[in-house]
Amino acid sequence: MSARGLFITVEGGEGVGKSTGIAFLEKTLQAHGVELLVTREPGGSKLGEELRRLLLAVDDEPLDPTAELLLMFAARAQHISGRIEPALAAGKWVLCDRFTDATYAYQCGGRGIDRGAVSALENLVQGTLRPDCTLLLDAPVSIGLARARMRGDLDRFELEELAFFERVRATYLELAAGSSGRFRIIDAGQPLEQVQEQLLKVCKELTACWGVRHPAP
Ligand code: TMP
Repeated sequence: MSARGLFITVEGGEGVGKSTGIAFLEKTLQAHGVELLVTREPGGSKLGEELRRLLLAVDDEPLDPTAELLLMFAARAQHISGRIEPALAAGKWVLCDRFTDATYAYQCGGRGIDRGAVSALENLVQGTLRPDCTLLLDAPVSIGLARARMRGDLDRFELEELAFFERVRATYLELAAGSSGRFRIIDAGQPLEQVQEQLLKVCKELTACWGVRHPAP
């Protein structure tokens, strides 16, 4: 039986370069011989992707914050049982674009939902599953939002006001400070090359710790 894989999550506010960072991590880890599932939240399963569409859609009926929270966890439950757990159990590493830290940052920090409620859902839906390592791509909100808004069509979250994203960023940094063993903060306000250098350092650290078979030179 193969050893359980590593569960890595990537977090950050809008426009911090998560997609580029994840593509770089995927390529680098695969070059180190890591078998990898790359996935995202909300999403990652058929139901999850349907729920993502509903969650991001701009609609004239405002989405109730508790409904939003429950839809995030409904998508997560399906994602964990259908994709994440089977991959980890088969010894694959899972690289997930956002996970429950995003719920604390957006639903608690952004929307003001009580952390106790999220913690209860976290325990119910995840059991003991928690990320082994979380990379937080951090950049000033004004930089990230300007990048996100340049991409064109804005989703329901991207339309939020500046203060919402300031609360999201502050919550992420607070979570990282409270779990410094799990988090690696990446300064995403730097030029791409320097961001990739920081990501490479984390990849080397993870593959060294977890004894991957074919380390790159
Ligand atoms: P993405 O497009 O950056 O992948 O994420 C979609 C949006 O969903 C993003 O604005 C953050 C939001 N989100 C939450 O509000 N709570 C969550 O638990 C997750 C996973 C995402």
